[in-house]
Amino acid sequence: MPEQDAVDVIIAKRDGAALSDEQIDWVIAAYTRGDVADEQMAALAMAILLNGMTDAETARWTAAMIASGERLDLSAVTRPTVDKHSTGGVGDKITLPLAPLVAACGAAVPQLSGRGLGHTGGTLDKLESIPGWRASLTNAEFLAQLSDVGAVVCAAGDGLAPADRKLYALRDVTGTVESIPLIASSIMSKKIAEGSSALVLDVKVGAGAFMKAADSARELAQTMVALGAAHGVRTVALLTDMSTPLGLSAGNALEVRESLEVLAGGGPPDVVELTLALAREMLSCAGVDADPADALRDGRAMDVWRAMIAAQGGDPAAPLPTARETHVVTAAETGVLTRLDAMAVGVAAWRLGAGRARKEDPVSAGAGVVLHAKPGDAVRAGQPLLELHADDPARFDRALAALDDAWDIGGAALAPTPLILDRIS
Ligand code: URA
Repeated sequence: MPEQDAVDVIIAKRDGAALSDEQIDWVIAAYTRGDVADEQMAALAMAILLNGMTDAETARWTAAMIASGERLDLSAVTRPTVDKHSTGGVGDKITLPLAPLVAACGAAVPQLSGRGLGHTGGTLDKLESIPGWRASLTNAEFLAQLSDVGAVVCAAGDGLAPADRKLYALRDVTGTVESIPLIASSIMSKKIAEGSSALVLDVKVGAGAFMKAADSARELAQTMVALGAAHGVRTVALLTDMSTPLGLSAGNALEVRESLEVLAGGGPPDVVELTLALAREMLSCAGVDADPADALRDGRAMDVWRAMIAAQGGDPAAPLPTARETHVVTAAETGVLTRLDAMAVGVAAWRLGAGRARKEDPVSAGAGVVLHAKPGDAVRAGQPLLELHADDPARFDRALAALDDAWDIGGAALAPTPLILDRIS
């Protein structure tokens, strides 16, 4: 099709029409090749954000993005394959204990992951704080580790959904991220291309998440579950609370340390609860009858963690890096912590060096925030609330500015809010 067809596609969506299968297939393929310009795709993404897509358009858009690259063939792996994807939150280190735990129960977990951008950390950044660990594997190494160890967390190669790689970078700088059809097709094209037979989605809701309201999170979850089913991937979603950080730490090595506590049978109760809930969903989707709590208790999950880290060059026994400087923030009054804002803590951790502003920036392994209290806890005036960790003390001021008005201390006890808000299948 000639170049002006891009304009026809943009105008059709601008005027509220549904795009045809041919238009969608063409525009995704031509954009991947470079025949549709970034400014044209940006205009189309904005028209989609404003006017939406029907379920049929979203399904076709996803299929076209999968078809822009390779779909991994995991048929050589004898165990059932199942993956997890989180839409991203603050302190969300769940993949770290979860992947080895599910592998210890008999499924295989192929997880192609990303680095963090903005206030949510990336799983690869967290694992890279382990001395020697490397994120890049060849397809052959990936498959061998999946068969031998049962769990692989590594960087996605350039061959998976290249249309999404280009489009996501463009959306990031054109104010077009927050569209449910575009988010759903972006996430699901990568996850379906990864080749896993089953997928559990952790869709975050609240201040620290993409989706601030339960209704939009539910719509995103339903869209993704339907896309998975349409492509033969058994998909279940949990809606989980992200109004406050998960666990007691946000930052790369800090989160690895907390994950090790969970694998050792301890760790913060919310991290343990979500790890077990997601593990149960993954095992059920994979058709494996096992109780993951047993594998945490008896150390089998920790054994798989060690094997998984060592297989990628990491030293599971090496001390984790720590930041050079710390700064303690104390409570100004006595009472009950009634709110601790996830977004503020995420931005503070980012400004301390745990995250990056541009994708080529380095991250600090030791930087981040440690929580000394969670919403619902009683606090006394003068007691530590948060501990900031950074290599460079000049970073504390901007992190403290992010934490301005980040919590409330009240007189009355809080009704506990559930961590798992809904399940969509
Ligand atoms: N994560 C993705 O991979 N894509 C989106 O569009 C949003 C979050």
